Amino acid sequence: MISGSQKLRKDSFVSPHFVLDLTELMTTFIIFLLLHLCFLLKSGEAQVRKDLITNAAEKTLNGFDENTLFSPYTKQEWRSYQDKKINEGRKTQLNFIITYPNKTAVKGAKLHIKQLTSDFHWGCGMTHRIINNPAYKKWFASKFTAADFHNELKWYYTEPQPGQENYTDPDTMLKFADEHGIIVRGHTVLWDDVKYQQKWVKKLSPKKLLQAANKRVDSVVKRYKGRLVGWDVMNENLHHNFFEKRLGKNASAIFYNRVYNIDPNTTLYMNEFNTTEHVNDKWAAPEKYLRRLKKIRAYPGNNGMKMGIGLQCHYGAKPIDLHYVRNSLSLLSQVGLPIWLTELDVKMDPALENKSQLQVIYLEEILRESFSHASVKAIIIWTGASIDGCDVMCMTNEKLENTPVGDLIDRLMEEWKTGNTEVVSDSNGISKVSMFNGRYEVTVVDPFTNVSSRVTFKVDKVSLPDENVHLQILV
Ligand SMILES: *[C@@H]1O[C@H](CO)[C@@H](O)[C@H](O)[C@H]1NC(C)=O
Ligand SMILES: *[C@@H]1O[C@H](CO)[C@@H](O)[C@H](O)[C@H]1NC(C)=O
Ligand SMILES: *[C@@H]1O[C@H](CO)[C@@H](O)[C@H](O)[C@H]1NC(C)=O
Ligand SMILES: *[C@@H]1O[C@H](CO)[C@@H](O)[C@H](O)[C@H]1NC(C)=O
Ligand SMILES: *[C@@H]1O[C@H](CO)[C@@H](O)[C@H](O)[C@H]1NC(C)=O
Ligand SMILES: *[C@@H]1O[C@H](CO)[C@@H](O)[C@H](O)[C@H]1NC(C)=O
Ligand SMILES: *[C@@H]1O[C@H](CO)[C@@H](O)[C@H](O)[C@H]1NC(C)=O
Repeated sequence: MISGSQKLRKDSFVSPHFVLDLTELMTTFIIFLLLHLCFLLKSGEAQVRKDLITNAAEKTLNGFDENTLFSPYTKQEWRSYQDKKINEGRKTQLNFIITYPNKTAVKGAKLHIKQLTSDFHWGCGMTHRIINNPAYKKWFASKFTAADFHNELKWYYTEPQPGQENYTDPDTMLKFADEHGIIVRGHTVLWDDVKYQQKWVKKLSPKKLLQAANKRVDSVVKRYKGRLVGWDVMNENLHHNFFEKRLGKNASAIFYNRVYNIDPNTTLYMNEFNTTEHVNDKWAAPEKYLRRLKKIRAYPGNNGMKMGIGLQCHYGAKPIDLHYVRNSLSLLSQVGLPIWLTELDVKMDPALENKSQLQVIYLEEILRESFSHASVKAIIIWTGASIDGCDVMCMTNEKLENTPVGDLIDRLMEEWKTGNTEVVSDSNGISKVSMFNGRYEVTVVDPFTNVSSRVTFKVDKVSLPDENVHLQILV
């Protein structure tokens, strides 16, 4: 049952070498599938999904009471299911087995486990106001590993007047992000909503519009090619159709193709609101989202394109329908693409008495539910500090002191990482640890000599398909 073996050298970094037994892998895979299936049947998830989607479709026809969707599960049941999914999908259980080269188990070896990176990204919306604010920069970089610019990459921002391009702000913001290892999404190449086109763009003939839009695509994509973690190519393509109306129904697929040809290694996203937020949005329900995605990928020349699912996640004042969120995310997860929650916030009715308490409660529910879907690779909070504008919610005030929302997010960030952990091997030389997926540095201290050895490696179920990890102390 040895999946990997690692010799530790004194104070050196060694990349792990794992010998995989294929027969064993196959068995694990089959068992995993069976477990997964049993779980699905037991939880009744597949059933709920079907009902909900039918309901969602009916609602647009008849209108029905949202209370009929109210959860039949208790809060504790939701929570324990979410925790189970988080354990399965985000964490890896490992048994570190410490031995000497003569195979003798080392009892009492100390393992200092340090999480270097996380596979999951916490992100935040960023605006140009961060540029001259060192305190905000420090705050941002200390918390987040991902960002989306609110407006600074949009066409109306970089080319307000025809031919007068100005990339000063996004250049500066991207430089800051790069310097701090913050990955950035390209939001957005084009936007299908007529409301957000420059006056001069709205006036163009179809022929001139195509020229101008192609020039825009080439300009922004060539400038940042290879530096971004993804592009929103056509924002809100399901609700709006500014470009389709003027350039034909394949317009967006053609723009995706153009971006793909310039920046082929970057993931191209759709980015939409109301896909998980509202059961009764007839434009952007998950099936419609997937249908459009399929169409874009099926367009000639697009088949090699890496795509991802962007969900804005602007939740509204009412209690969030977690059933609908769960089933939407489950359905979207089935296509095997990365899902990014790109602009997550929870808007409260200003007239509501307990709005700030309720906002935190709803936000926690939605974050826990979202995090329990392993296909959700990042959650971008909209917004951070109040200097970026607090139209819906903020993590801090202008002095960068936490709001209750900020406290909640800090608490969850702490909960969803392994951080620094210390364990001691038992009489069989074994230490069991459950670790959030990511990169780790493990330092092993020999109990007799106190000499320490170090190794860094990636933890996830693909890198470490067997839970036994052998670490050999060289003497
Ligand atoms: C194995 O090696 C360790 C460390 O050198 C030593 O302390 C131990 O006695 C050895 N065990 C056997 C069975 O040789
Ligand atoms: C470009 O944008 C920067 C930042 O907003 C501004 O300071 C500068 O004046 C702009 N340049 C031109 C030529 O408008
Ligand atoms: C895309 O990535 C592949 C593999 O990493 C690399 O060989 C290729 O040069 C990249 N293409 C571009 C245009 O950067
Ligand atoms: C989302 O859908 C609901 C229901 O159709 C609608 O009331 C709401 O305005 C939509 N949100 C946005 C931002 O358009
Ligand atoms: C859209 O593209 C498809 C190929 O995917 C093609 O068959 C169809 O004719 C195109 N429609 C228009 C209006 O260009
Ligand atoms: C407001 O919140 C407090 C504390 O959570 C609770 O005791 C009270 O009943 C709430 N009031 C309303 C109107 O919901
Ligand atoms: C190893 O460290 C422990 C505690 O830090 C100490 O008690 C012990 O004497 C040290 N052993 C050696 C061989 O240095």
